[in-house]
Formats: sequence, C-alpha cells, structure tokens
Amino acid sequence: METKEEWKSRVGFLMAAIGSAIGLGNIWRFSYLCYKNGGGAFLIPYLVALFTAGIPLLILEYGIGHRFRGSAVLSFRKIGKKWEWIGWWPSIFAVLGIAFYYTVILAWCLDYIWYSLTLKWGSNPSAFFFHQHLNLSKGFWNLGHPSTIIFTALIVIWILNWFIELRGIQRGIELACKIFIPLLVVLITILVIRGVTLPGSGKGIAWYLKPDFSHLTNPRVWLDAYGQIFFSLSIAMATMIAYASYLPKKADVTGNALITAFANSGFSLFAGFAVFSTLGFISVQQNLPPSEVVKSGFGLAFVAYPQAISAMPFGARAFGVIFFTALVIAGLSSSISMIEGLVASLIDKFQWKRRRIIHVITLLGLLVGVVYTTGSGYYFLDLIDHFISSYSLILVGLFEAVVVGWVYKASNLREEINQISNIKIGRWWDFMIKYFIPIVLTVIFVFSLKADFVQKYGNYPLAAILFVGIGSVVVTFIIGFFFYKSKWKKSGELLH
Ligand code: ALA
Repeated sequence: METKEEWKSRVGFLMAAIGSAIGLGNIWRFSYLCYKNGGGAFLIPYLVALFTAGIPLLILEYGIGHRFRGSAVLSFRKIGKKWEWIGWWPSIFAVLGIAFYYTVILAWCLDYIWYSLTLKWGSNPSAFFFHQHLNLSKGFWNLGHPSTIIFTALIVIWILNWFIELRGIQRGIELACKIFIPLLVVLITILVIRGVTLPGSGKGIAWYLKPDFSHLTNPRVWLDAYGQIFFSLSIAMATMIAYASYLPKKADVTGNALITAFANSGFSLFAGFAVFSTLGFISVQQNLPPSEVVKSGFGLAFVAYPQAISAMPFGARAFGVIFFTALVIAGLSSSISMIEGLVASLIDKFQWKRRRIIHVITLLGLLVGVVYTTGSGYYFLDLIDHFISSYSLILVGLFEAVVVGWVYKASNLREEINQISNIKIGRWWDFMIKYFIPIVLTVIFVFSLKADFVQKYGNYPLAAILFVGIGSVVVTFIIGFFFYKSKWKKSGELLH
C-alpha cells in the first residue's frame, strides 16, 4: 500500500490549489464575459456567485477532503456506501471529458509560441487559425487528417503532465506550482504594463469595465456568472477534494478556501487588463469597432491577440511568446490537478501504483487527443466543453451540496471545519449548502436544458449533439458507475 503523501507546506498547497483554479478560463473567458455581460456591472453577479456558491462549495470540498483524508471517491464512500458514485463521476469526466481536450488547447498554445517567433499568422490571423492551423473541416463528421504540428505539441504537453504527476505531490505538483504561479504573475504583469501603455488602451479598458446595469435583468448573465465560478474554481472536478486530502491534520480549511478564491478572482480581473488594453490598441490602430475586435474564447486568444501582437510598435515576437507561455503555464497547473483527482480516486479504491495509472492516462490522453487534432477536432472540443461544463459540473455540485448538507449534515461538517480553522463560519453556510445552492443549481440546470432544446447548440447536427455532446456526459457517468460497482481493495475498517 502506498503511504499517503502530504504537502510540504501551506504555501505549497495554496500554490497548487491556486494553480488548479487559475487556468485558461481566467485569461480569456472572464474578461470576455465581462465585456459581453455589462462590463463592470457583471462583477455584481460574478461576486454574488462567488460568495453564494463558489466559496461555500470550495469550503465543502476542502472540508470533506481534509476530514476523510481521501479522494472524492473515498470521501463520499465514507459519508455512505451508496454515495461513492458522486466521487467517481467527476473523477472520470474531469480527465476523459475535460483534461483530454484541455491539453489539446494547450498544444495549440505551444504551437503559437513557435508561430510567434516568425509572426506566422501574417495579416489574416483568423484565416490562419481556422484554415491553416486547425485545418477546420466543412462538416462535423468529416474528420480529415490529424494535424502533425498539433499532435507533436500534444505529445510535449502530455510529457510535461506525465513528468510532474509521476513525481507525486511534493516533488511534482507542489514544486511545479511553486515555480509556475510566481512566473505566471510576472508574465501577466509584463503583459498588463505593455497593454496599458499602448495608445488606445483606455478605450479597451472602458469596454471591459464600463458598467451597464441593464444586463443584470437577463438570466443568461447570471448563468454565465455561476458557470464561470464553477469552472474557474475547479469545483466539482474531484480535484479540490483530492488536494485537500494531502493537507496535514491541522489545517486552516476556511482560510485556505478564501485565499484560493480571492487569488483566483483577483487574477482574472488583473489579466482582463492585459487582454482588453491590447484590444483597445488594435481597435484604435486599425480603426475597427469593438464587435470586430473582441472575439469570444478561442477567437480572442488565437485571432484578436495575434492581430494585436503583429501591430505592436516593438518587441512583437517577444510579446507573442510571453502571452502564449502564460497560457501554457496557467493551463498546465490546471490539467495536472484534474489528472490528480482521478489518480487519487484510483489509488484509494484499488491501491494501484501511481506510476501505472499515470502511464495509462497519458497514453489514453494521446489516443483520444488524435481525434481533437483532426479537421473536426475543434467541433468535438466545443461540444464536449459546452455539455460537460453546463451539465456535469452543475449536477455534481448539486449532488455534493445535497449529500453533504442533508446526509452528512452541513452543521456537522461546519463544526469540524471550525475546530481547525482560524476563521469560523456561521450558520449561513449551512443554509447555502442545504437550500440555496441546490435551488440555484437546479434553476441553472433547467435553464441550460431549455436553452439547448430551443436552440440547437452551435447549430451542430442533431446526431453530433446527441452522440458527442450529451454522449460525453452519459458515457463518463457510465464509466464512473462501473468503477463504483467494482470491489474495494482497501480493508473494511479503513473505509469507516
Ligand atoms: N480552473 C481551470 C480554468 O479556469 C480549469 O481553466
């Protein structure tokens, strides 16, 4: 039996947890959501979501991981035999559903570090990204060939994940994140300074933050806020529970949750300045309206930003390298955390060797990754991302709140957390876990379902939505259920 590892220090744990939270979502998704949903006014639903769901659920996940000293699977198993599957589902979908495409986006970023050296996207970054880099096919089922350059980068990304994961908690994840996070802050700071000193930056920052409160009556804005908080804090991915299980017996659970949450949101807000000041510059320079410059998600990172990089008065190549390196670093510390959630669950239940599990996950990641590198890969990635984020994350968050709130009892966990934490949480937390979060997440689930029914997501063929989008949610659940039904290798008394 492998002995349970622990973090070397509190700072080490915090770096790893913040590394998990800060990812691709913070750099391009947050600032775009602000722009789309009323600028600075979006901070209201965002902060409401942070305080009413994000922080309470993070405290819950840290609380149970630390209390039971176990992965998501072991923690829920200890709450009750029949709840173990609530640990399996996120353990599986965080890797098969999320990490397997997330690593492909990191591979694109790695390619773009390379392209930055020659500004290879030329005068039309959009055509370059979609046609040359992705070689996007005409139809969903028309896969085409895998891309050599994307697959080569994917191998590098997986070797990095493999290497860090193989070295375990202290020498792997903790050490890597202690290097990654400060480095990331330095890189983003350079980008912010560069951005705000460019002509026209003020215009971009105004798009980003100028409040328009009329958006707040739109339910979609609130859905976006809650969705962003979930994905960004890596909640309901089995990750944070596993990370908390490596904490020593005496740990400030609540303090750790607050520091993680504030660092994550603070970073998002800060990174938004780098992105939008640069977009303002390009709009002034090329006399373009915001709608032509501000793109969502991938368009922002792989089209708008390269366009701005090319137009920079000096150091264009260096800024390209810095921007895409920042994305790779932010994303790596998140992808290793998703993998660790599953690794911890498999070790807990089957006592398998860490290295064997990592070898298998890496090979599978590369194998599945081939599909994402084809001409249809982008469509697959977009659909799976949408369905897993809209449904799996929300449902797991809902089940976690209900089972801990009502079966284990929120008040019990709160008292246990308060005994070891410097900041004490009050009864408001029980209320959030037992009532508020289940209700809000149910509403979000129903709204998302309705929206997807009324309007076929992304105009994809129905078969693609059923087999790939909804399929990814169902298949990861079935695989998780299969592991749930398998026999425990751990001795009976350890489970109680
Ligand atoms: N929390 C990670 C992100 O925001 C997954 O990208």
